[in-house]
Amino acid sequence: MGNSGGAVLFLYCALSLWVHSCMSGNPVCRLAKYSVPGMFQNGDIMIGGIFPVHRTDEFKDLPFTKEPAPLVCDKRFDLRSYKWIQAMMFAVDEINDSHELLPNVKLGYAVYDTCDSIAKALEGTFALVTGEDNYIPNYRCHLNSSLAAVIGESSSTISIAMARILGIYQYPQISYFSSIPILSDKQQFPSFLRTIPSDTFQSKAFAYLVKYFGWKWVGTLAEDIEYGTQGVQLFKEEVKKLGICIAFAEKIPVVYSRQKYVRIVETIKKSTAKAIVVFSGETNMIPLVEEIERQNVTGITWLASEAWSTTTYIANKEQYKYFEGALGFGIMKGNIPGFDKFIFKLQPLNAPHDIYLKEFWENVFGCTWSNQGTKPRCTGEESLLESNNTFLDMSELRITCNVYNAVYAIAHALHKLQSCQVGKGPFAKGACAKANDFEPWQLLHYVKKVQFIDKTGNEQYFDENGDIVPKYDILNWQTAADGSVVLKTVGRYDGSELGQELKIDEQAIIWNGKKKEPPVSVCSQSCPPGTRQSIQPGQPVCCFNCITCPDGEISNGTDFTNCIKCPADYWSNSKKDECVAREIEFLSFGELLGVVLTVFAVLGACLTFSVIGIFIKNMNTPIVRANNLELSFLLLFSLVLCFLCALTFIGEPTVELCILRRTGFAVSFALCISCILVKTIVVLLAFKMTVPNQNVMKHFRIVHQHMTVATATLIQIVICLAFMLSSPPSVWKNREAVIAKIILECHEGSELTLFCILGYIGFLAIIDFALAFLARNLPDNFNEAKFITFSLLVFVVVWISFIPGYISTKGKYLVAVEIFAILSSSFGLLACIFFPKCYIIMLRPELNTKNNLMGRPKKL
Ligand code: TRP
Repeated sequence: MGNSGGAVLFLYCALSLWVHSCMSGNPVCRLAKYSVPGMFQNGDIMIGGIFPVHRTDEFKDLPFTKEPAPLVCDKRFDLRSYKWIQAMMFAVDEINDSHELLPNVKLGYAVYDTCDSIAKALEGTFALVTGEDNYIPNYRCHLNSSLAAVIGESSSTISIAMARILGIYQYPQISYFSSIPILSDKQQFPSFLRTIPSDTFQSKAFAYLVKYFGWKWVGTLAEDIEYGTQGVQLFKEEVKKLGICIAFAEKIPVVYSRQKYVRIVETIKKSTAKAIVVFSGETNMIPLVEEIERQNVTGITWLASEAWSTTTYIANKEQYKYFEGALGFGIMKGNIPGFDKFIFKLQPLNAPHDIYLKEFWENVFGCTWSNQGTKPRCTGEESLLESNNTFLDMSELRITCNVYNAVYAIAHALHKLQSCQVGKGPFAKGACAKANDFEPWQLLHYVKKVQFIDKTGNEQYFDENGDIVPKYDILNWQTAADGSVVLKTVGRYDGSELGQELKIDEQAIIWNGKKKEPPVSVCSQSCPPGTRQSIQPGQPVCCFNCITCPDGEISNGTDFTNCIKCPADYWSNSKKDECVAREIEFLSFGELLGVVLTVFAVLGACLTFSVIGIFIKNMNTPIVRANNLELSFLLLFSLVLCFLCALTFIGEPTVELCILRRTGFAVSFALCISCILVKTIVVLLAFKMTVPNQNVMKHFRIVHQHMTVATATLIQIVICLAFMLSSPPSVWKNREAVIAKIILECHEGSELTLFCILGYIGFLAIIDFALAFLARNLPDNFNEAKFITFSLLVFVVVWISFIPGYISTKGKYLVAVEIFAILSSSFGLLACIFFPKCYIIMLRPELNTKNNLMGRPKKL
């Protein structure tokens, strides 16, 4: 409008006047209903202020059956809001007195009360934008002063509504208390700025705080308007990333509803969550606080958002019991030097422009200016200095400071705008804005770029979204000696210090119940080492059971979600909190089983030696000579080997030992059985062939016999060699067989090895058995074939029963089974073949004659 020149201006106002007259007189137009009373101080440039000085019940049931009553503000007077207005006035006065800042400009202000309602706030906004209390939208007629910017409002909901209108005209709007994140969106709110940080950071800070104190299960309460819902939603998102769960999320109604408050408080009482985050303004919080008091809910750690963390309506002696130890975020405290004096000078009798002062006076001193009522009359002589109203506490300036800084931001921007040098200006072709007749968008340009040091010493500037650096004090509700509530700063959140945003002095915090330790707020107690969490399907991740880690797995800390598998050679201890080296197991000489088997093996060998001894001693007796003597000794020798080879199965397996075991066993048994085989053949030939062909015996002479034994054994040696060379055995750490142990086992290079070796021995044994069976009834007094048949039967039975035993046992018992089979089969052979002979030699020497052996049958 400013560029269009005088003529246009004139036309504009003429038009406006016409519209005006139209409204009052012309029947086509009607005067709009409401005129908005404001509070003014004239100046060259005006700053608008929108504050919730009173309250109102905006949400009335309106049936529209009769003309609805206009919105009336009620009598509830907000002292805090009045303090903000005073801060604005003080700043304007200060700037007007300043010689450095805007030296030649007189700032004025216009303040409107919103009564905490959107409708009233919009009326005030229109009045500011048009410059008329009886405003006509889109006209501005008092051209002697221009509106620079608007400060306000407090509640985000109202600021949003205002920002939509101010955005149309590009008037800079600076809010001192509206923190909702959406206001950072410059597409929607192009001319909105604020001297309070966005709740994006507060929500984050709450999440960090909750994490810091180890609360895993928290409740949330949100006032059911933009501020609460968005704040809690962001908090939930942040918290989710940190693995913290929400126990309940309740909405605090904005329209009074006893029922809903009762329900909320019951939810709080029922829940195990002891930390509750509350995003709410004090107005909506108060009825809930009353319900909390009524139901006597204590033991909760309240986490207060900035909107109610400093409110004296709740942080007072009466309610402290319920809110003891509350933690809250507070806007950074600041200084306004000289503000206390300014306030104490307030005098209702000589401040006609201050339309709220008398009301303020009534509220502070509990008096009345009217003649009615029982209250004492106000005189104006009362002393603010002597009143101990919290309003006058100048040590806690937080939001007040935001208002003060907002005025200064505008002043600094104006100053910059006015000190613009033509040609070097920021606008097209280096143009400058007109000093006292600038366009709102031109000032907006400067406000967005403003940068100054405030009275507290902090640098103030807006980021690209019009927000300031996010810094909060962390406040703890404590009591002073006199029982009054003090808000102790116990920490700080600084969003600009990435990585270490949160700083907390834990020692300084007094928790609820006067405790020194933070309370616990979890759904499930944490899982101790040795267990892991098991989350039930459909339940939040913070609610779990603890289950013991399975064998071989451990958890060495609390709250493991998975147990860790122990490395291969390790196993879990009994507590499942440590991996310990697995015990290595093998059949050793040191243990009972090992000793017993060794004793039997040695006993067997000794017995065999004794038999050899007896045979040598009685070498010339018929019974010894009856059969091939060398063969008998060879058999006895192989039996010694069989007994001794059992010993190789005891002790820690190594590759060499494994080879020795297999080949030792294979060769000694092959040798043994082939000796028996040849013996059987000899018996068979000696008897069966004598009559028809005397020569047969000669053909199968001793050399042949020895060669047969050698060949049979050699074949076994070749089998062994083939296997040992092609797939040598190895030592295998068997971790599966026995829990928590490693069993050292000889692992055949090929599955076939044992099969072939045993198979070959079995093959020899079966042939032998068959032959012996044929020879069993030969007419011999001492028929060896009978004993051989029997011994082989024992042998075969032992090894056949070995197979299922071998398959079903594990670990070192497998080796024991094998040794057992070796020993018992060897004992079987020794006993069946040689003991009867020894019996005759030792105890029945009378039978040991050639006659007796060859002669008539005689019973043994
Ligand atoms: N920071 C809050 C907001 O952005 C302040 C607030 C919440 C508030 N609820 C309120 C202020 C109610 C006044 C009234 O909205």
